Amino acid sequence: MSKRQFKVWRGDTKGGDFKSFEVDVDPGMVVLDALHRIQAQDANDLALRWNCKAGKCGSCSMEINGKPRLSCMTRMNTFEPDETITVQPLKAFPVIKDLVTDVSWNYEQNKKIPKFKPRPKEADGTHRMYQEDIDRVQEFRKCIECYLCQDTCHVLRDRDGGTTHSSDGGAGGGRFVGPRFMIRLASLEMHPLDADDRIPEIRKEFGSGMCNITRCCTEVCPEHINITDNGIIPLKERVVDRYYDPIAILGRKLFGIRRRTKARSEQAK
Ligand code: SF4
Ligand code: SF4
Ligand code: FES
Repeated sequence: MSKRQFKVWRGDTKGGDFKSFEVDVDPGMVVLDALHRIQAQDANDLALRWNCKAGKCGSCSMEINGKPRLSCMTRMNTFEPDETITVQPLKAFPVIKDLVTDVSWNYEQNKKIPKFKPRPKEADGTHRMYQEDIDRVQEFRKCIECYLCQDTCHVLRDRDGGTTHSSDGGAGGGRFVGPRFMIRLASLEMHPLDADDRIPEIRKEFGSGMCNITRCCTEVCPEHINITDNGIIPLKERVVDRYYDPIAILGRKLFGIRRRTKARSEQAK
């Protein structure tokens, strides 16, 4: 057992500050264990979310020494013995209390995404898919909705409005849906059985152009999803192909292929 120093942010919607705690740490403990010990011994009303303690529910997300991480998967032995461990709530979302933030903005984004639309069955009544197409979207299904990627994305974090509900609807002045939902869009757009076309929405409502592929989201993903290279960049390429690639546009004209360029919200006007 060793004594470790913690600074934990405590407060609510009106404001708050870091409070210092000294914790007895046993071998094998993770940051979540240490927070539970603080809760049990020094601060019974410390608010934090957790469920599985196995890196699978995505609820224990917080910032530990400035980095978005899952507290149940951050081992105490990753820090130097004399290092003070600073724990604070996700910065991209409004605080409710202590380490608990209001992530409901994310669920609102999710609701805006056009759902899966299965293509008609083959003549023999089956649906056939290639394994390589399945493998491609399977990666995106690993998401545990921890929102660490949303928290780290500077477009959501810094721009007008952030994720704190700006007047036109949210992140980046209401324009960028964030990396978690870009990979949800990718999982639908690349699904071999999906027949919908979300490219105009990806460009307009979901703001694909605002991502400048810094890959910060990919670096923090606890499921090691290659968010930027496998999800966001292919979607950006599809947008370029639809709107800006003169050869693709000419080819579609020559062969009489029609592709929607107005988002559904624009068509409705
Ligand atoms: S790659 Fe795009 S989505 Fe990911 S953190 Fe950077 S700007 Fe945000
Ligand atoms: S993509 Fe990764 S970091 Fe983002 S919400 Fe899903 S699991 Fe978390
Ligand atoms: S408690 Fe479930 S991911 Fe950490």
